[in-house]
Amino acid sequence: MHPNVNLIVEPDYASMSKRAAEIFAQVLRENPNGAFGFATGGTPEGMYKELISMHNNDDLDFSEITTFNLDEYHPIARDISQSYYYVMQENLFRHVGISEEQINIPDGTAPDPLEECHAYEQKLWDSGGIDMQILGIGHNGHIGFNEPSDSFAANTNYTILKESTIENNARFFSKAEEVPRHAITMGIRSIIMARSILLLCSGAAKAEILRDALQGPITPLVPASALQLHPNVIVVADKEAASLLNQDTSYKESQKNQS
Ligand code: PGA
Repeated sequence: MHPNVNLIVEPDYASMSKRAAEIFAQVLRENPNGAFGFATGGTPEGMYKELISMHNNDDLDFSEITTFNLDEYHPIARDISQSYYYVMQENLFRHVGISEEQINIPDGTAPDPLEECHAYEQKLWDSGGIDMQILGIGHNGHIGFNEPSDSFAANTNYTILKESTIENNARFFSKAEEVPRHAITMGIRSIIMARSILLLCSGAAKAEILRDALQGPITPLVPASALQLHPNVIVVADKEAASLLNQDTSYKESQKNQS
């Protein structure tokens, strides 16, 4: 494992979610006025439930933070239940007292999406940087909606979703044809500018891509491999997702063997 990746393996989805929530809560308590990056998708849902329960039972306070979300479909209105704005409200924000003024999510109704990308990137800069960015990983290695490509997109960008992503996300819609074909997503540099990254990964179906992302070559064909360039990544995976990772070789040991 690379020295900059802190890997935590939990037995199952429930304990992965709990552990990730504890890590997030600690950073939140240390930075009550901080900026935090949120992700949608199925993986972080359990963690959000844990955070809601910490808010209700342990006074975990979200009232002073600024939130940024990784991405949003385009076009989509906020009141459509599949919009990431709506999903974040339902899964976390409205349960922990996060108000409208605290929320930043790309505008899925922006008439000029490129202008919206530029404005969103500016907001990220103006915030002073994200203290902790939560990430899932797509089956194809995407983070946010940065799909496999022959180059890394640095900044917030307007992207065409891959067929495999549309198929995967069709489970949230009544049929695949309803999934928007475009999205606005934070770029790879926008993501790795965060001071820390918390990547969640669950299930055997993600084992291969997690290994490629963390231990394969750094390549835009696996967008998540760019995380190897980040100095402070925490990966919380369940046993199945971590099953193909080489966990025995520490950096120091591999250096020793090479010399
Ligand atoms: P999932 O999506 O959590 O629903 O698997 C992850 C992602 O696409 O980033």
